[in-house]
Amino acid sequence: MNNRKAELIETLLPKDTNGYGNIFGGVVMSIMDKTAGVVCWRYSRQRVVTASAERINFHSPINVGEVVYSRATIVHVGRSSMTVELEVEAENMIKGTVRRAASGLFTMVAVDENSKPSPVPPWRPETEAELEKWQMVEKLKRPA
Ligand SMILES: CC(C)(COP(=O)(O)OP(=O)(O)OC[C@H]1O[C@@H](n2cnc3c(N)ncnc32)[C@H](O)[C@@H]1OP(=O)(O)O)[C@@H](O)C(=O)NCCC(=O)NCCS
Repeated sequence: MNNRKAELIETLLPKDTNGYGNIFGGVVMSIMDKTAGVVCWRYSRQRVVTASAERINFHSPINVGEVVYSRATIVHVGRSSMTVELEVEAENMIKGTVRRAASGLFTMVAVDENSKPSPVPPWRPETEAELEKWQMVEKLKRPA
């Protein structure tokens, strides 16, 4: 099992929708937050909290009755922080179509029993693609 990846699958109910039958953005963010939490919990084997959510984009509306796939990959690891790239897709089960619905970056921090930041296992990028994402997060951490 890749301990830097996790996927959650959700079905949504009418209570999660606005008056037009589309899922609220906040509900989608909550699913992303949960997926980021699971992957960081798996990676660190510690309790984690959300420190920030950035670059949240909603690419297409999700409708009630569709199945939502939220995929998380840890793309940067600091001393106690882990930054997670989230990709969300929606599948219309009747038509059999899948489309990109949302994306974002969440930073989670591992905390000890006193809720203080706690070190996590180190990780460094190995491939070009991993390095590119790592550097993108480094830039976000140190704005010019
Ligand atoms: C996140 C939290 C644990 C950080 O604690 P802190 O004492 O300020 O921590 P530090 O300044 O020592 O930073 C610890 C790490 O968190 C990172 N961090 C802190 N605030 C951050 C932020 N807003 N965004 C991204 N990373 C952040 C730091 O970069 C550092 O990373 P590193 O250890 O990999 O170098 C603390 O602010 C907290 O508990 N926040 C509330 C979390 C919460 O309740 N989340 C649910 C949302 S309602």
